[in-house]
Amino acid sequence: MKKKIFKENLTSKLLQKHSLNIVIKLKNKNICEIGCGNGNISNYLIKNSKKVNFFHLSDISSFAVEYAQKKIRNKNVKFKTGDLFKPWGDEKFDIVISDVSSLSQTIAEKSPWYQGVDSDCGKDGLKNVKKILKNLNHNLKKNGIFIIPLISLSNTDKLRNMLKSKFKIFKETEKIYWPIPIFFRQNIDEFNKLLKKKVIYFENKFGQYIAYTSVAICIKIK
Ligand SMILES: C[S@@+](CC[C@H](N)C(=O)[O-])C[C@H]1O[C@@H](n2cnc3c(N)ncnc32)[C@H](O)[C@@H]1O
Repeated sequence: MKKKIFKENLTSKLLQKHSLNIVIKLKNKNICEIGCGNGNISNYLIKNSKKVNFFHLSDISSFAVEYAQKKIRNKNVKFKTGDLFKPWGDEKFDIVISDVSSLSQTIAEKSPWYQGVDSDCGKDGLKNVKKILKNLNHNLKKNGIFIIPLISLSNTDKLRNMLKSKFKIFKETEKIYWPIPIFFRQNIDEFNKLLKKKVIYFENKFGQYIAYTSVAICIKIK
């Protein structure tokens, strides 16, 4: 069991913002966040939406879940520890937010972000996402909404196609570009190979490596 808690980052903030645009209009809905880490996304939604919804937060890390549980003291929030949807059994949700680790494992292993944090995502970063999409048939209600980040240090073209073929409605927010920290330059030969094979995407602008994140909002499983 890994013992560090992921630090809130740009992706967390984009998920907060775009999920709130949806959640703010709702009441009495069941919302599930998997890969909740320190709970910042649901905490933001709870603090900024006026109506009552019921939150279900889980993460594979018991350290993260315990931390989130201490931080969010609210009777409408349930916490569980475990792999993807396993903790939730047969429960069905109106909204699922996934922020489960989903970077190319080649990058995650070299990055500071995942030191001490669970990540087992395969070269394309989509190993967890593929399992989650299968589980949604069971755990997402018929007209439910699925929210997930598209991070260009994974295979976003493949993920976009997977989401478009699974959902009736697929919307993608604007891409926000961000500078990749120094570890990237130190391993650039390996990452250039992934770029060439279109497994990941990044740019080199004026000597700075840049990736992007957007958020996919997907409605109704086909
Ligand atoms: C990118 S972090 C996001 C954490 C949090 N949402 C945030 O914004 O800081 C990914 C999270 O997924 C969790 N995770 C990794 N593998 C998982 C799995 N198989 N099932 C559930 N959670 C997992 C990690 O422990 C980590 O907390």
